[in-house]
Parts: sequence; C-alpha cells; structure tokens
Amino acid sequence: MAGPTIPLSLPLLSLLLFLPFAFPQLIPPTLLPSAPPTSADPSPVADVGDVKPPTNPPGLVSFTRGRGSYKMMAREFLVAHNAIRTLAGERPYVWDRRLARYARRWAEQRRENCDTIHSHGPYGENMFWGTGWDWKAKEAVQNWAHERLYYNRTDRSCWPGKMCGHFTQIVWNSTVRVGCARVECYQGGVIISCNYDPPGNYVGEDPFTS
Ligand SMILES: *[C@@H]1O[C@H](CO)[C@@H](O)[C@H](O)[C@H]1NC(C)=O
Ligand SMILES: *[C@@H]1O[C@H](CO)[C@@H](O)[C@H](O)[C@H]1NC(C)=O
Repeated sequence: MAGPTIPLSLPLLSLLLFLPFAFPQLIPPTLLPSAPPTSADPSPVADVGDVKPPTNPPGLVSFTRGRGSYKMMAREFLVAHNAIRTLAGERPYVWDRRLARYARRWAEQRRENCDTIHSHGPYGENMFWGTGWDWKAKEAVQNWAHERLYYNRTDRSCWPGKMCGHFTQIVWNSTVRVGCARVECYQGGVIISCNYDPPGNYVGEDPFTS
C-alpha cells in the first residue's frame, strides 16, 4: 500500500500555478501625520508635468492594447470601493473625474519604470502594482480591501507587521470622492492608482468617525 498522500488543495494549487506569472504588490498607502488642516489654504496640486503621448512597446499584447483603461472601468472601480464601504457601514463614494484625471497623469509617468512612487499631492492615494498586463480595477481594490482581515475595529489597530492603510482609506468616513487610473508599463506590469478626497488616514484618528 502506498503511504498517505498529502492532498494539494485547489486554492493552494492555483496559487502555485498563478504565482510565477503574476503577483501583486502592496505599496504602503499615504499616511498623513496629524489632523486635517483647518486653515483655508489647501495644499497645492502637485505639478506632475506634461504626460508623454502613450507609445506602446513592441510586443505589447494587453487586452486594452496599451491604453490601460477599458470600457466600464470607472464603474468597476466605484462599485468595488462601495462594496467595501457598505460592508463597513459607510456611505458610498461618488466618482470624481478630476481625481481620475489626477490619478491618470501621475500613473502615466510611472509607465517607463513601473515604479509606485506616491504623488504626495493633496489627496489620499492608494497604489497597486502587479506583473503582467491583466490586472483589473476590482482586483486592485479587493487587494487593498483584503487588509480588513488585519484590522481590529475594536481598538482601531492593525496586526503587527501588516498594512491596513489601504483599507482604512477606502472606508474613511469623511472621504466622499474617489477617482482612479490604470496604466500598463512599457516593459510589462500594471499600475493602478486611486485618489481620495478629502484625504483620510490621519494617524491616530478613527477611520469610522473622523
Ligand atoms: C481587538 O482588540 C481588542 C481590544 O484590544 C481585543 O480585546 C481583541 O482581542 C482584539 N481582537 C483581535 C481579533 O485581535
Ligand atoms: C461620518 O460622516 C458623516 C458626514 O460626513 C457624519 O454625519 C457622520 O456622523 C460620520 N459618522 C460617524 C460615525 O462619525
């Protein structure tokens, strides 16, 4: 008789198959040091410069043909965010084209190196990077929202060594608008960036009441 075999569970198997080809990376979200500014002078919008016209690398085979955005993408971003907000008992976001444009201008400049540098503008910002060209809007949002597993709502803390800031920005009570962009990097890779207004993630404040 053969010894017992250890069954490889389907989720584990699909993870193993999936990993070599595409993996997401969590980028630390923007954190703001203290209470929201009470003065009337808003931070200036970061000058992100002119965006180069998109030029696609030879051999780019993405389903968007290098455009990055696709039909109904904005709706997908919004629906994915609002599913999480509703679960957390927060009012839904509205989509904001100005924020989406800001996110796009910033993300377009990341296409060459596929780096995930934050814009440090006046908005909250979640960024996502994944290999390949297939990552969709809702996958990035779900990736961020997964952090809810590490967030303790009772004492508003995050498990040691884990990040919760993407999640807390998504559910931040006083944030009302979101706008996002998706770009494909020249050498492969997808960057997804969302901006939030008013920004959340003030350190020491409660996401659900402030
Ligand atoms: C959450 O925090 C509370 C208060 O510190 C603690 O009693 C509880 O065990 C924590 N829950 C988890 C799942 O860590
Ligand atoms: C969340 O924000 C709304 C308005 O921005 C406010 O009316 C509400 O009281 C806040 N929720 C909590 C739990 O503080």
